[in-house]
Amino acid sequence: MTVDKNDVKLIKDSLAKVMVGTGAENLQHGRDFYKYFFTNFPDLRVYFKGAEKYTAEDVQKSERFEKQGQRILLATHILANTYEDLEVFKAYARETVTRHRQFKMDPALWLAFFTVFVGYLKSKNAIDDDETEAAWHRLGKIFNEECQKHLKASGLPST
Ligand code: HEM
Repeated sequence: MTVDKNDVKLIKDSLAKVMVGTGAENLQHGRDFYKYFFTNFPDLRVYFKGAEKYTAEDVQKSERFEKQGQRILLATHILANTYEDLEVFKAYARETVTRHRQFKMDPALWLAFFTVFVGYLKSKNAIDDDETEAAWHRLGKIFNEECQKHLKASGLPST
């Protein structure tokens, strides 16, 4: 299977608008992910121990989510930057699942994450066309397929 080069470009171009880094603007992009996430999908806060009731304001003030914001953004940049090197991309998907094992997440969330992330990118005006949105969902589908395969192989619940 080969990945569409135009999809890679669209995905990378959208992420360029939420670049990781140490500057105030970069740190804010990361916080904004969790502000969007917790505001629009409050039920999913249950996985974030101690932050189950966090509002967007709480996230804004939190050092934990300043750091976690960079981690999640970095993770999505890694997805974009390894997408054409599909074996590496899939290995990263498996590693991500392994690292989340302790949270006992609903397996459906590996696909649902991309609805959250596309919503966040839209909220940041980093996506304003259907093509880029579709490209992200294609990436998410491949990521999720590998996650479910890995869950199954590990004897864990999968979709
Ligand atoms: C860490 C939940 C999807 C990458 C975490 C933590 C939780 C969590 C609870 C610990 C952070 C803390 O409590 O402060 C979730 C949920 C997801 C999801 C509910 C789906 C809706 C993803 C995806 C990726 C990812 C798809 C990668 C693309 C990370 C990274 C960390 C992390 C890099 C930092 C810790 C580490 O590297 O192991 N996640 N996660 N997460 N998550 Fe997720």
